[in-house]
Parts: sequence; structure tokens; C-alpha cells
Amino acid sequence: MKLIKVKDYSELSKKACSIVLKEIQRKPNLVIGFATGKTPLGFYGGLVERYKKGGIDFSRVKSFNLDEYYPIKKSNKKSFCYYMFKNLFDKINIKRGNINLFDGETKSPKKECMRYEALIRRNPIDIQILGVGVNGHIGFDEPGSLKESTTRLVELSNSTKKINKTSKKALTMGIKTIIKSKKIILLADGKEKREAISHLIKGNVDKKWPVSFLKKHRNLIVIADKSALG
Ligand code: GLP
Repeated sequence: MKLIKVKDYSELSKKACSIVLKEIQRKPNLVIGFATGKTPLGFYGGLVERYKKGGIDFSRVKSFNLDEYYPIKKSNKKSFCYYMFKNLFDKINIKRGNINLFDGETKSPKKECMRYEALIRRNPIDIQILGVGVNGHIGFDEPGSLKESTTRLVELSNSTKKINKTSKKALTMGIKTIIKSKKIILLADGKEKREAISHLIKGNVDKKWPVSFLKKHRNLIVIADKSALG
């Protein structure tokens, strides 16, 4: 695990941006897994800024998203699909055909999860961006998620429902799906993430803190600010 301590959120976002841009320059057809929530917004803003300055080309990049509420309409402003187009996809030259998102409107969540998992098998993720929930969830793999879990429909925990206020269920990549990524960049800022981050850095692997499963990953970069590191 490589721990990068940053002084604040702006430095966290800049650091994530520079790592990913270098990777895209190294491999223009990079497959990137994106996360949602507040934490990655500064990172996405940085990617857009570099793109507008002609500093990067997304035309061969492929993307996957970690999760999506279920059921939810793509047009719903609270959907992660809406979030990604608003904060990133509409502002860079990624091809629509290279964007892979969960279908939150599917009538068959089981089939949708199998479709998504098979897509990821065919296009292995080079870099997975992660945030972390206050309760230590990654994606929507909530406390109690198993190491062998793959893409599936899940019930959200009460704490997540209280914070996210959107849906009771979600479609999410599983722990095993996430860990197959060649590289993982986990972003954490703010004291509310301190307990989760300490379970990752100091604690043992514990399914009550799904983020701790990342400890075993051979290529994990944690970018965290002082308040998240305690
Ligand atoms: C959501 C998402 C996670 C995200 C987490 C933290 O539940 N499913 O992918 O990492 O919450 O979000 P935030 O960055 O807003 O704290």
C-alpha cells in the first residue's frame, strides 16, 4: 500500500489527477473505474481542466462506474449516471460507446449484474478510483460484504440510506470485482472518514469494514488528507 498524505482537498484532487493523466499518456486506451460522491469531484474537475487545456485525450479511454442506485431513472438528478455526465463525461472527449454504466431502470437486476460483470471480465480495469463510506463501504459493498462478492443487487445500510437519501437498494461491483483492478486509487478526506481509513491502514482485514479488504491489494495508492489520517 502506498500512502500519500496531502495537506488538503485541493492537493488530494491534484495528486489523483496527475497520477491518472500519466497513466492515460502511458496507455491511451486505459480502462478506468470511476466513483461518485463528493470526494472525487475535485479530481473530475482537474481532469476537465487539463482536457480543456489540451493536456489529455480521452477518445480511447473506456470507463466503468462502481455502482448505481436501484431502481432509478437515468434522468434522475440523484442517479450516478446523471452525476457522471454532469461532472465529467459531458465535458471531455470520451466516446459514449466506451462508457459503461449500470442500467438503473432494468427490469432484471440479476441479468444486468451478470452483463456488467462479464463486460468487466472482457475489459479488465486498469485503474479503479474509490472513495470510502463513513461506515467503511466501498462502492456499495456495505459492512458484512464478503471478499468473494461480485457485481450484485444490494440492500443499503441504514447509515448509508440516511446519508445518501436516495434509494434502499443499489447495483454494485463486488469486493472481488474491485480487487481484480490492476491498480486502485482510494481518495479520502475529512475526519468522518478517519475510522474507516484507520481500519484500512492499521486494522486487520474485517468484513465489518469492507475497505480493509483492500489491504491485500498489490497496487493500492491511498491519497488522504490530515483530517482523514488522524
Ligand atoms: C457512496 C458511494 C461510494 C462513495 C461513498 C463516499 O455511497 N457509493 O462509492 O465512495 O458514498 O461518498 P463521499 O465521497 O461523498 O463521502
